[in-house]
Amino acid sequence: MPSIDELNSLLQEAKTKLAAATDEAGLRQVEIEYLGRQDGKLTQLLRGLADVPLEQRKIIGQRANEVKSALMAFLASRRQALGSSNVPLVDLTQPGTVPSEGHRHLVTQAIEEIAEIFTRIGFQRSYHPEVDWEHYAFAALNMPENHPARDEWETFFIDTEPLGKLGRRVLTPHTSNGQVREMEQQKQPMRMVNIGTCYRRQIDVSHTPMFHQFEGLLIDEGVTMSNLIGTLDYFVKAFYGPERKIRVRPFHFQFTEPSIEIDVSCGVCHGTGLLRQGFGGQACRMCKQGWVELGGAGMVHPNVLKAGKIDPKKYSGFAFGWGVERCFLMKAGLEIPDIRMLYSNDLRFLQQF
Ligand code: DAH
Repeated sequence: MPSIDELNSLLQEAKTKLAAATDEAGLRQVEIEYLGRQDGKLTQLLRGLADVPLEQRKIIGQRANEVKSALMAFLASRRQALGSSNVPLVDLTQPGTVPSEGHRHLVTQAIEEIAEIFTRIGFQRSYHPEVDWEHYAFAALNMPENHPARDEWETFFIDTEPLGKLGRRVLTPHTSNGQVREMEQQKQPMRMVNIGTCYRRQIDVSHTPMFHQFEGLLIDEGVTMSNLIGTLDYFVKAFYGPERKIRVRPFHFQFTEPSIEIDVSCGVCHGTGLLRQGFGGQACRMCKQGWVELGGAGMVHPNVLKAGKIDPKKYSGFAFGWGVERCFLMKAGLEIPDIRMLYSNDLRFLQQF
């Protein structure tokens, strides 16, 4: 009748012999001696379990199984060490572990979707510097040096003093720096969409110091405001859904004349400004009376065309520049309360998308 002590000393004994074996033949001999089907020492002990009184059988049986597994594992490791492994260490019949699959970041997904919508209607994606001269970020956009409008951009400057005619270097505070750079390439007519990273000294629930914008620029002969509004309406319906509407308000930008801002009908209250029945007719928290602000646009100012060496008498154009994160957060049903969550890198948040 086997006992725990007997099992333990058997394991010790077998391990000592395995450790001393110097080749496969030696290992095999020990294997047969202890694990052999007929009269292996451990096999016999296991057989004897049937005679053990029931109350002890569970404990001794468990130890016997542990001893068997430990012995087999040690044997396998000795075989591997001696380079004579003839038992597979990996059980190929076991189901595999499926590696967890990641996905692109939400902002990258939004950028891809935006690029896809505009390329569908003939806009070409363009790329411009993320560290650029003050000239392209401001002066060429009809904001001469010391113009107060520059203050609205909360810019990060790289240099303290201008390095030459183009001024200081800045971290681009908007993607509008791409406008005159694109014009300088003289490819009229042109339709570009410049999606880039922007930086501003701002951080709160609706701002991060690093964010993204997409800038559209179309230049051709006889371009009108209706072309602009039609294009933006197309984008809004493609990105948010065919039931969404846009609203146009007059605004001011130095680089467009006339300038407008675009709002989209709120996806939460469906443009009513009120929450659905059952909420007691409460005002919607997502929007202002049914509308949410998307971003600015306008007809390219003649001074900007001139800065890009384009004749404003022959050509006209429209431009728009909107925030990627902002537009993404306005998608119906998302209701993300703080823009900074996008960059907190918390997988519990990111994995939901
Ligand atoms: N660059 C502006 C900003 O960052 C947005 C903008 C407004 C871009 C109107 C445009 C435009 O191209 O036409 O606030």
